[in-house]
Amino acid sequence: MKAEIIAVGNQKGGCGKTSSIMNFSRLSVLDGKKTLLIDLDPNESATIASDVLSGLLPTIIEEKNVCNLFKQDPPDPSSLIVETKDGYDMIIGSMDLVVADQFLMNESEASKYLIDLLYDDEALNQYDRIFIDTGGRVGPMLTAAIVAADKVITPSKASMYDTPQTKRFPAFVEKCAKIKARDRLYMDRPVELVKVFFNEVSERAATTSDVIVEFMQEFDLPGAVSETFVPFSNEMKRGQAFNQTIVDWRPKSAPAQAYVKIYNEVFNSNFTLEGANNG
Ligand SMILES: Nc1ncnc2c1ncn2[C@@H]1O[C@H](COP(=O)(O)OP(=O)(O)O)[C@@H](O)[C@H]1O
Ligand SMILES: [Mg+2]
Repeated sequence: MKAEIIAVGNQKGGCGKTSSIMNFSRLSVLDGKKTLLIDLDPNESATIASDVLSGLLPTIIEEKNVCNLFKQDPPDPSSLIVETKDGYDMIIGSMDLVVADQFLMNESEASKYLIDLLYDDEALNQYDRIFIDTGGRVGPMLTAAIVAADKVITPSKASMYDTPQTKRFPAFVEKCAKIKARDRLYMDRPVELVKVFFNEVSERAATTSDVIVEFMQEFDLPGAVSETFVPFSNEMKRGQAFNQTIVDWRPKSAPAQAYVKIYNEVFNSNFTLEGANNG
């Protein structure tokens, strides 16, 4: 069995990458999939939102954070895995990833490093799905994550003023796909940008159907632009204050239902929260 690898990416910060990957990881658990979340963003947002740090001693945080993947010789990902209250396992992030980015030196080297680790490790292949949260900075680490991914999901801020970077991101994914193909890395697992969707991260960034239609027309990515967007919700923020994803906090709310729809589009499934939740 091989774990499917799903990375979230957009070089724009604050567009909903972490919120999305956390909701998708959680939905994956509720959907019965053995799930691992890797926090590959130096800002550690997914780690903090998963509320794992408070249960770990500082020395353990040092020994277990994701930077150790780049320091251990040979790397042993299973030694870094921690459990979360939400049912998925995690490899926690670290601010030191900024430094790890520097030893990855060039993009081609970076891409080989992470892919070999993720595809060949026996413990990691016990998972059905491995989700990778990435930061907004374009560099070797982001390249490595995208090259390693089977599926890439790109959330975007919703308004037309916020979308220029999102429009550039498919070209970045394409570049990563070419690196994977050029280096003959796992030819049976091409990188695919499976979903672009919009997320109203603020009340100002209202989604208009114009933006969605424009994206659909502009991209030659059939089916990749979702008609569903995640609406702005104060409940999403409120849930986060209690370290809860919106799918747990308010499963019937519009944003939770939007995440379920997009999840089903990504995984070609028919999962529903009814039965999985009682909110
Ligand atoms: N639909 C939404 N409604 C309200 N707030 C949101 C929504 N989506 C994201 N946010 C908020 O926007 C901010 C940025 O989201 P985040 O997922 O951290 O983005 P990124 O990981 O791309 O930087 C967070 O504070 C998050 O709580
Ligand atoms: Mg983030």
